[in-house]
Amino acid sequence: MIERVRRPFLLPALGLLAVLLAMAFLVTACSNDGQERRRSLGDSPSFGDFMRLADVGRGGRLFSQCAACHTVRKGAGDRNGPGLYDVVGKPIAGNSKHFGYTGALRSLGGVWTPERLDVWLAAPAKFAPGTSMSFRGVPDPLDRADIVAYLQTQSVDGGAEALKSRP
Ligand code: HEC
Repeated sequence: MIERVRRPFLLPALGLLAVLLAMAFLVTACSNDGQERRRSLGDSPSFGDFMRLADVGRGGRLFSQCAACHTVRKGAGDRNGPGLYDVVGKPIAGNSKHFGYTGALRSLGGVWTPERLDVWLAAPAKFAPGTSMSFRGVPDPLDRADIVAYLQTQSVDGGAEALKSRP
């Protein structure tokens, strides 16, 4: 008799347990904020070291802080900032034909290598004093590497060239 009364509660209880386990898993997965990768890097990792371990998926999520001002899809155009599709390897202040770049950025010359993107994203106002990119920067080098790796994939070759140079 007691058995019969209790059973109806078993399924919902199991369901609840499954939901709780799934939530615990998600929280653990999300809070593992690149810590394993950080541990595997030596004492003074170079930009190349960070790039070798870069996580494109995480870079895509981190790009949300750029997305208020930048699109990254082909043909998506400019917002407050220029469109960033295929920006890696492009002339600095040259990725969008229609965007009104500042003299501060235009006067720099050269192309957006991953290394220069890293320095730019660390502190835009230091890299190009007077720039209109009013963004304080991304202080964490692993976050920057992830974002740069993500930008490499948002390109004509989908990042194939960049992946080739990884060990
Ligand atoms: C508040 C708006 C804003 C945010 C947020 C922002 N940017 Fe920008 N970005 C700009 C503007 C404006 C420019 C043009 C700067 C200039 O002309 O001096 C720019 C320029 C750039 C350029 C140069 C493009 C070219 O054609 O030379 C890159 C690369 C870039 N941003 C990447 C990023 C990334 C990556 C993030 C996020 C980590 C980000 N930006 C966040 C507004 C923003």
